[in-house]
Amino acid sequence: MEMKLGSFDLSSMARILLVLCVLMVSKSTGTFFPIDNYLLACGSSQNVSSQGQVFVPDSSPSSLLQLNKGITVNSSSTAPSPIYQSARVFTESSTYKFDINQKGRHFVRLYLCPLSHPSYNLKSATFTVITDEFVLLSNFTFKNQTTNYLFKEYLINVTSDTLYLHFAPSNNSVSFVNGIEVVSVPDELIPDQALALNPFTSFNGLSGLALETVFRLNMGGPIIIPGNDTLGRRWENDRSYLHVKNSAQNYSVNPSIIKYQTGVTPETAPNWVYATAERMGDANVVNDIFNITWVFTVDPEFMYFVRLHFCDIVSKAMNELIFNVYVNSVLAMPSFDISEKTGSLNVPYFKDFISNSSTNSSFLYVSVGQDKSNPSDAILNGLEIMKMSNEAKSLDGKFSVDGILPSIAKKKNSKVGILVGSAIGVTVALALLAFCYCCFVAPRSSKPRPKSHPWLALPLYGNSQTMSKVSTTSQKSGTASFISSGVSSLGRSFTFSEIMDATNKFDESLLLGVGGFGKVYKGTLEDGLKVAVKRGNPRSEQGMAEFQTEIQMLSKLRHRHLVSLIGYCDERSEMILVYEYMANGPLRSHLYGTDLLPLSWKQRLEICIGAARGLHYLHTGAAQSIIHRDVKTTNILLDENLVAKVADFGLSKTGPALDQTHVSTAVKGSFGYLDPEYFRRQQLTEKSDVYSFGVVLMEVLCSRPALNPGLPREQVNIAEWAMGWQRKGMLDHIMDPFLAGKINPGSLKKFGETAEKCLAEYGVDRPTMGDVLWNLEYALQLQETSEVADPEDNSTNHIADIQLGQLQPIDNSMSIIHSGADDEPEDATTSAVFSQLVNPRGR
Ligand SMILES: *[C@@H]1O[C@H](CO)[C@@H](O)[C@H](O)[C@H]1NC(C)=O
Ligand SMILES: *[C@@H]1O[C@H](CO)[C@@H](O)[C@H](O)[C@H]1NC(C)=O
Ligand SMILES: *[C@@H]1O[C@H](CO)[C@@H](O)[C@H](O)[C@H]1NC(C)=O
Ligand SMILES: *[C@@H]1O[C@H](CO)[C@@H](O)[C@H](O)[C@H]1NC(C)=O
Ligand SMILES: *[C@@H]1O[C@H](CO)[C@@H](O)[C@H](O)[C@H]1NC(C)=O
Ligand SMILES: *[C@@H]1O[C@H](CO)[C@@H](O)[C@H](O)[C@H]1NC(C)=O
Ligand SMILES: *[C@@H]1O[C@H](CO)[C@@H](O)[C@H](O)[C@H]1NC(C)=O
Ligand SMILES: *[C@@H]1O[C@H](CO)[C@@H](O)[C@H](O)[C@H]1NC(C)=O
Ligand SMILES: *[C@@H]1O[C@H](CO)[C@@H](O)[C@H](O)[C@H]1NC(C)=O
Ligand SMILES: *[C@@H]1O[C@H](CO)[C@@H](O)[C@H](O)[C@H]1NC(C)=O
Ligand SMILES: *[C@@H]1O[C@H](CO)[C@@H](O)[C@H](O)[C@H]1NC(C)=O
Repeated sequence: MEMKLGSFDLSSMARILLVLCVLMVSKSTGTFFPIDNYLLACGSSQNVSSQGQVFVPDSSPSSLLQLNKGITVNSSSTAPSPIYQSARVFTESSTYKFDINQKGRHFVRLYLCPLSHPSYNLKSATFTVITDEFVLLSNFTFKNQTTNYLFKEYLINVTSDTLYLHFAPSNNSVSFVNGIEVVSVPDELIPDQALALNPFTSFNGLSGLALETVFRLNMGGPIIIPGNDTLGRRWENDRSYLHVKNSAQNYSVNPSIIKYQTGVTPETAPNWVYATAERMGDANVVNDIFNITWVFTVDPEFMYFVRLHFCDIVSKAMNELIFNVYVNSVLAMPSFDISEKTGSLNVPYFKDFISNSSTNSSFLYVSVGQDKSNPSDAILNGLEIMKMSNEAKSLDGKFSVDGILPSIAKKKNSKVGILVGSAIGVTVALALLAFCYCCFVAPRSSKPRPKSHPWLALPLYGNSQTMSKVSTTSQKSGTASFISSGVSSLGRSFTFSEIMDATNKFDESLLLGVGGFGKVYKGTLEDGLKVAVKRGNPRSEQGMAEFQTEIQMLSKLRHRHLVSLIGYCDERSEMILVYEYMANGPLRSHLYGTDLLPLSWKQRLEICIGAARGLHYLHTGAAQSIIHRDVKTTNILLDENLVAKVADFGLSKTGPALDQTHVSTAVKGSFGYLDPEYFRRQQLTEKSDVYSFGVVLMEVLCSRPALNPGLPREQVNIAEWAMGWQRKGMLDHIMDPFLAGKINPGSLKKFGETAEKCLAEYGVDRPTMGDVLWNLEYALQLQETSEVADPEDNSTNHIADIQLGQLQPIDNSMSIIHSGADDEPEDATTSAVFSQLVNPRGR
């Protein structure tokens, strides 16, 4: 994951030398050669040729190709031109990093088109784009746009060796980009100074500002595509901006007669621009004195840099053409005579101004017109209008970079280099889910980043996005730091022969189950202790180091409600884990599908409480929280006393670090239990476990599978089905008939509400596991007190309804205590705190 910033090796030296040579040669021929020249087709799998330019995929190095699988949109139907046909979609803040070889002005160009996608509505995506210094787009969305694609061009003076381009989705949204260009611009193109109108004064300091091209017109001429402009600019025709269409008529000459002279080069504007113009309509026929006026809609909050291009291509002789030029009705160039300035016909000339929009309106007007004292024709050849960044260094809105994205802004400063954003898939659909259990080799991008692609989007939070079921320890770096915070014992190291003896040579009759990792056998150790032996598939891709990290992680987790690891065996390249044996097997088998006795409501509550404790410990008990990612009734095991323990950390992942809110990852988990938000956004938080646990609660109440495709459509998914009934307050209609008449209504109500909150659409609306635990305890207490008392007494009527949110402060104190003590004591703590609750019977 490390990227050496500013590293300088022979190959880049050679590249710079080559560039310098080319530059020297090109100087003599007058052609500008952009030293930095990145043209990226985002999300594309191949080079894209668009408007005379070739864009390369933003994912070329094969070492990282896998990261980019399923993260792109590719749709030719809605795209206006090839560069818009693919896009990269980001579900979280992401960054492109460009190595800059020549500091100074650069064009930064963005191509945006909300392609259609089955899971993401890019049309309503809202996001912010910033560099380290400037805000380019703020809360931008296509929702409000009249166009269905957008091209943006910025001119930014890059003063460091690297340019970062951050894409930050707004709340619950995604960001995307179809194409990016970062291209060197000749320093002379934009001066530091220009004449400000209204009041007339010299404006200094343009070099410190970012500019955004809002209009660039080739008056009276055709559209000039980037491929025909030395700086890759596009020039539009001006007709649609004319205030009065027939006030102007186009005029053109052969571009080859344009003579560039001092101060003006083809980089200023190509000769195609100077070879065409708008001149006064019928000026020679009608004697009326009038103006040609162009009208532009601008944001009145900003100032604008206005460049006017002239070239006298209409006159037969010198000093024939004398006219006035107005910007926002201010006479900017009185009695202007082009040939006087240039000393010759057909020689280009340009003039810069700085202007506001006209007084309290959002229009900017540019006019050329006859000088009353000296009536002649009037022309304009080209016009550029650029928005200037404001005091907040923004080109969109009033927020500065620091105000908007402090976290991103901070990250870029850490020169460690783990700062480049993560590109998360959008085509992560069912297909990928089905893939979950297949081995997917996680790319380890600790490989050096290929020099030739310095702009790659790299993941922000490590790389194991395609972590497989087998790759148990998921995020290696996270795990490693977590472990170093306090390694306990690694558990017992077993010899292979001990394992062979314990399992009777892996006797198939002792098979307890088969999972992605391999097979699980029941075993008996020499001392008579019953164990579960999980034998990794020797052909699995999981390396030895990862195997050991997994052991460390699991052995660190000791809790009454987590299945504990007893030891391991790594002899003979075996990968074997030995767990405590859970006599009563998975919770699921006690709910349905077997002839085991149905569990009582109290037993069910106690099991749920146990499992919630285990998960609460995972989330809060360690320095870095752990997200289980595969909470379901088959992963909650019951020991001989029906004590619930959470098992199978095959998918678990260390949670977000303190300054992050989530980890991003390819979607893993089990159908029916999957957090819809996680599925949509691939952002993993503890709340994803909470959602899955909500499904478990419903399953426990209703004694039916999370997904049952055999049922009518609306009943297939228990989360949807039960939520419908819960909202109606009629959960008792679908609960396990065995429980009918045996549940205290208050207990059921509390349980239903808790499950409902767990199943909230958005993670932020779900309770923490601590809250869940609390409410389940409460439901249990209601049940217990009602069992003691007269069953007819509906005690709930007397109980103040306790909202999940209100429990938060107390829960915090609970988790502090938890983090101090790993093992049993939290039971006592919890009940101590719980006893502060009003005993319903005491009221
Ligand atoms: C888009 O997808 C089609 C077929 O999947 C492929 O042939 C084409 O090359 C892709 N285009 C881009 C720009 O990746
Ligand atoms: C893509 O374009 C780059 C730059 O123009 C070129 O070096 C590369 O060979 C092209 N690749 C393909 C597959 O055409
Ligand atoms: C986006 O909008 C939200 C709420 O309207 C605001 O708080 C936030 O500052 C905006 N972000 C930017 C970059 O303007
Ligand atoms: C959408 O545009 C309309 C009119 O242009 C404006 O009034 C409205 O505030 C805009 N909405 C958003 C969310 O920007
Ligand atoms: C973002 O989410 C927070 C919390 O849900 C909310 O308070 C805020 O208004 C949201 N902002 C926007 C722009 O939607
Ligand atoms: C870019 O900024 C630096 C530092 O402010 C300045 O020295 C340089 O002249 C600027 N370059 C251009 C082209 O504006
Ligand atoms: C110039 O004007 C003529 C006649 O009005 C029109 O047909 C032609 O398209 C115009 N050319 C351009 C480049 O606008
Ligand atoms: C662009 O360049 C091509 C090839 O040189 C030429 O045929 C075409 O007319 C040019 N178009 C414009 C608008 O300059
Ligand atoms: C041209 O426009 C300017 C500014 O709006 C105005 O002052 C001037 O009178 C106009 N000239 C003619 C001839 O209409
Ligand atoms: C822009 O307008 C503001 C107030 O309307 C004024 O103070 C400022 O001087 C103007 N700037 C220019 C360059 O016209
Ligand atoms: C400009 O603002 C002034 C005062 O706010 C107002 O009286 C006037 O009508 C406005 N003019 C236009 C064209 O909106």
